[in-house]
Amino acid sequence: MCSIIGYYGKEIAAPIIVKALKRMEYRGYDSVGVATKSENQIYVKKGIGKVAEVNESLKLSNLPGNIGIGHTRWATHGKVTDENAHPHSSNSGKITIVHNGVIENFTELKENLQKNGFTFKSETDTEVIVNLIQQNLSKYSDVKKSILKTVSQLKGHFAFVVMFDDGTLVAARFHEPLIIGIGKNSYFISSDVLGFIENTDDAIYLDNGNIMIIDSSDLKIFSFDGTKLKKPITKVAKEFADVNKGDYAHFTLKEISEQPDTILKAGEDTLEALENMVDFIKHAKNVYFTGSGTSFNAALLAKNLMSKYAKVKVEPLISSEILSIPESIEPNSILIVLSQSGESADVLEAVNIAKQQTAKILSIVNSSLSSLVQESSLVIRMGCGPEIGVAATKSFTAELAIIYKITEKLCEGCMGIDFNKISEAISKVLTNHSKIQAIAKELKQVSDIYVIGRGVHYPIAMEAALKLKELTYIHAEGIAGGELKHGPLALMDSNVYVIIINPDDSTYTDTITNAHEIKSRGAKIIGVSNKNNEIYDHWIQIPKIDEPMYPIIEIIPIQLLAYYSAIEKDTDPDYPRNLAKSVTVK
Ligand code: F6R
Repeated sequence: MCSIIGYYGKEIAAPIIVKALKRMEYRGYDSVGVATKSENQIYVKKGIGKVAEVNESLKLSNLPGNIGIGHTRWATHGKVTDENAHPHSSNSGKITIVHNGVIENFTELKENLQKNGFTFKSETDTEVIVNLIQQNLSKYSDVKKSILKTVSQLKGHFAFVVMFDDGTLVAARFHEPLIIGIGKNSYFISSDVLGFIENTDDAIYLDNGNIMIIDSSDLKIFSFDGTKLKKPITKVAKEFADVNKGDYAHFTLKEISEQPDTILKAGEDTLEALENMVDFIKHAKNVYFTGSGTSFNAALLAKNLMSKYAKVKVEPLISSEILSIPESIEPNSILIVLSQSGESADVLEAVNIAKQQTAKILSIVNSSLSSLVQESSLVIRMGCGPEIGVAATKSFTAELAIIYKITEKLCEGCMGIDFNKISEAISKVLTNHSKIQAIAKELKQVSDIYVIGRGVHYPIAMEAALKLKELTYIHAEGIAGGELKHGPLALMDSNVYVIIINPDDSTYTDTITNAHEIKSRGAKIIGVSNKNNEIYDHWIQIPKIDEPMYPIIEIIPIQLLAYYSAIEKDTDPDYPRNLAKSVTVK
């Protein structure tokens, strides 16, 4: 989702800003812009496209000055156009802003500004903020007072950085991430540590309801009521420095390939929290799991594993659905929140609602300094390192590994999980690229793929379908095997491919029956299993392993299949269209 970067220092700002925007590309965006200040003059350049393309055509890096702001936009208010790209300037041209979030009352604010003679070049809510600041500045003649007044007038979620033509930089944070990197004689204000990690690992994390002002005298932080705050400087985790693709063609392939290692590390540096979570689950009246997208699919598996093996009832809830039905969370329950980024707006909103319902918030998070961590009573860290590819891969299996560890403790070792065996099995699957590449060549032509699984394999079917649609733009759907005859069978014909997740376990025979029903309607079958069957048109072999461990292994070849199908279709697997890594707006 939108990325923000501000720079205040002694170096030429523009190349630093462009580099920072490139490092944050994974968050997802459609347009780019940079503004700098040199000799009381503000320069702005912006346009649609990738950072490298826009830099090539507009020469963003050549802008002059040691102070600047930059932005990659993911459209919410207004189409993807050059005019709607950030930065936006106020009518006077003396104030410029970059912004992430949504201002819910922007229409009303805009109408008031228009009545007072302000005009607008874009359709964005952002241009409203910068003109509001101009209006308030002319009233108060004081930067701090004008910003405090402005934030009090805004409804919604926002993080913004404002640059004044005298070089003052001001930032505000309210339910969108914003971090200050403290370098040598320099400051970086960024949505993400990746915006400054090459320059410094010292950071100040702004809280919701904080503003920051940097001018020639100093850096100061205040709360929205104007109180001056003292904030500690934190060392950013070293793991964030490791954000190179290495020899891999794409981050997505690198991250898929890291899984034999990341599943071993999952939760390992927060073992005490893991023990405590088990204890909470044992004694809770109601246990809910929540997440969005891939993280919700992990929540579905948590439900299946915990009821099957530990006889513990947990309820998976889609985070955005909690917003519609807050009553789904009964008072005095526990809510276990799964999130790679810890910044998904739907997830944070669900947490907010659950807190109002007196629920205790326990989290499983990858980004250890995220908003979700701040909201949680207890945190288990996925520890899988930065995930740059927009499609979640290694964070999904890290979530599953932690869910396995919790379930195994709840059932006192009944599953016999051996993570070294899982790691070896994943390594074996990852040697099978050529077979999967050959199938990807066929899938290139296909318009519909269905993925079938039963029991513990159903959440994996859902996740497989999500990976395929995100990376290949092919329509894909996960189906519980037993549901086939209740509708989806009508869709089966010779144009369709069906992936059957079918290891040789208690679901095998019923799933093979599904395969026959599908095959007799002409569809092609790809079997993901340790055991071949003549019904398969293609067999993707996974190693034989004890039954409970199959789900975490069987998703790996499908991640690879989605990746190679994206390559075949010439789509960008790291940055799928219309998607963002951290979905920080509702
Ligand atoms: C799918 C994907 C998304 C995320 C979802 C939640 O590949 O990446 O569906 O899983 O946006 O994100 P987190 O886990 O960061 O809350």
